[in-house]
Amino acid sequence: MTTQPTTFNTDLPKRRPMPDLLSGQKALVTGANSGIGRAVAIGLARAGAEVAVNYVVGEEAAQKVVAEIEAEGGRAHAVYADVSSEDDVKTMMASAIETMGTIDILVPNAGLQRDAAAVDMTLEQWNKVISVNLTGQFLCIREAVKEFNRRGVRTDVSVAAGKVICMSSVHEVIAWAGHINYAASKGGVHMMMQSLAQELAPQRIRVNAIGPGAIRTPINTQAWNTEAAYADLMRLVPYKRIGEPEDIANAAVFLASDMADYINGITLFVDGGMTCYPGFATGG
Ligand code: BGC
Repeated sequence: MTTQPTTFNTDLPKRRPMPDLLSGQKALVTGANSGIGRAVAIGLARAGAEVAVNYVVGEEAAQKVVAEIEAEGGRAHAVYADVSSEDDVKTMMASAIETMGTIDILVPNAGLQRDAAAVDMTLEQWNKVISVNLTGQFLCIREAVKEFNRRGVRTDVSVAAGKVICMSSVHEVIAWAGHINYAASKGGVHMMMQSLAQELAPQRIRVNAIGPGAIRTPINTQAWNTEAAYADLMRLVPYKRIGEPEDIANAAVFLASDMADYINGITLFVDGGMTCYPGFATGG
């Protein structure tokens, strides 16, 4: 019998230092005060980018992310916006551009869940998830693209005029009973991302997405914070460990860098194989 790693021992390999792939670039990460967004902001900064750290609640946590980046010698700024508010997004983008000079990388990451059985789901729960997870990404991307187009390619930092990395989910392809608002929002992110990739490629703007599986963050605490929940979760993960926020940050750095210059219009699943439908490992 093999021993399953427990909640608190995920046997992560020793990581190498982050390569300096993004120096001179300016990034905006939404929902960067916690979870995946926080790790992505820190990862982009470690790769050399200056980062605007967006938050809507949790200003203190956002300031801590900024302090952490600065303590490592990076540059970062906290910036408020509710991404579902058009006015907030416009103000945030203007202030990020004013502070950093421009924007080269956008990671529209802010997202949330409001879970309920379909029959019990309120319109408010539906609208909240769609407006943050899908409309929020659209608003941020629209404003960032205006800046990419205004400025064009900054040949000293990148061969592309702009890079967008949408935060999607394995649930852009894996149906999820009890979460129809969330799954619909991520399915929407997928087609928005691909349509944008097609539309914006002639302007040398690359648009991709990351599809995280189960990552150890506050959004899904109940899926990993007890031995029983963790064991249950592992039935869905061929690689037999939960993902860490840093796993997503590494993918974001790669997709934002010129190493990924010919990658456009894809979702990079970072999920330990969850999208391989492990239920079918036997049978079927
Ligand atoms: C959800 C998590 C969930 C994971 C895998 C993510 O997109 O936000 O709650 O654990 O997908 O199912």
